[in-house]
Amino acid sequence: MTGGAVTGGARALVVGGGGREHALAWALARSPRVREVLASPGNAGTAELGRNLPDPGDVQALARAAVDEAVDLVVIGPEAPLVAGLADTCRAHGLLVYGPSAAAARLEASKVEAKAFMQRHGVPTAAATTCHDEAGALAHLRAHGAPIVVKRSGLAGGKGVTVALDLATAERAVRAAFAAGDRALLLEDFLEGQEVSLLVVCDGRTALPLPLVQDYKQAYDGDRGPMTGGMGTVAPVGLLDRAALGEVMERVVHPTLDGMRAEGTPFVGTLFVGLMLTPAGASVLEYNVRFGDPELQALVPLFDDDLFDLLDAAARGRLGGRSLRWRAGAATCVVLAAPGYPEAPRTGTPLTIPPDLGDEVLVFHAGTRRQDGRLLSAGGRVLNVVGYGPDRRSATARAYAAAARIAFPGVHYRHDIGARLDAP
Ligand code: GLY
Repeated sequence: MTGGAVTGGARALVVGGGGREHALAWALARSPRVREVLASPGNAGTAELGRNLPDPGDVQALARAAVDEAVDLVVIGPEAPLVAGLADTCRAHGLLVYGPSAAAARLEASKVEAKAFMQRHGVPTAAATTCHDEAGALAHLRAHGAPIVVKRSGLAGGKGVTVALDLATAERAVRAAFAAGDRALLLEDFLEGQEVSLLVVCDGRTALPLPLVQDYKQAYDGDRGPMTGGMGTVAPVGLLDRAALGEVMERVVHPTLDGMRAEGTPFVGTLFVGLMLTPAGASVLEYNVRFGDPELQALVPLFDDDLFDLLDAAARGRLGGRSLRWRAGAATCVVLAAPGYPEAPRTGTPLTIPPDLGDEVLVFHAGTRRQDGRLLSAGGRVLNVVGYGPDRRSATARAYAAAARIAFPGVHYRHDIGARLDAP
């Protein structure tokens, strides 16, 4: 099944059920090569574009479902199924897959392993110490002093990093990590600068960078409050010119892809590099092994190419010689979150999305479901409102005008998405 090119109408399966997966399904459905988009488990948004399949709960059953549905390309959204080996299992069933193997997904599954990988391959990153027990970590903290960054090693839904400006905060984060059963964490030097997300589509050897994105990860305006999966994004971000991006590709992306190949775990999928742009140059904060959520939502309105064609080519190892087309302009994504998010989101709230939000506004569903014909919230991040415009200001104004019309009881969202880029 992985052999020839798809002819006569392809069926794509998107794995996951958040805003990123609705955005993926939306972009895939626009491809002239795609006949049907399936999502597992999907959400109320993906159901409007195609067909949702129930989440069978394990990678073997999901791969078998994809075979039964004669899926031509499996696109895996979230990190958890990648780390659990879904891409490997699908490939073992003869399916074509966009997404890294479990072995390659270790770049996100273990921050300790990712740091060691960067050090082995000379990828610029902050100095860090790995600690395996609470007493050792607390002793290191006291010797090092604040500020310092405490990073849980395993998957934590984007909430495993504490930037501690004082020792008490760092100690609390260390104690909480070991109390939760963690076996290792990183204590990393604090870096100052602008944080940006560089997403790169990879076929194991060739890497195509997407426009730079900035994510706003804390729950409240002014970068205050608890960490979330991401409360909004803007793209493109003009903080790296062509030469500086070229340098990041040379010093970060290519050594990463070459290192993964040399270690026998070639990377096929989206390499998401979290970068801190410091006065001394770009430094890698973390790797993720999939499209960012909500980074992708701000990229799809700018994408002027065929997503199915791109991901299909990446999955086949055929990105060489390819370039991507992008629309001019900018996009802003605002995440509408449920009351109580991120600590204890309340769900089941009825939602109404006005049909006349305008041509330059997209609404991607994140945590939503339909029950008896009614649209209800079903997760912490509920809807992603994306505005497109000739520049960031107009895109942001459109996103916020639409968000104000969709607001549901108890909703909260940030009012300053993009503002960091306006700071002097
Ligand atoms: N928005 C951050 C992430 O996808 O991990």
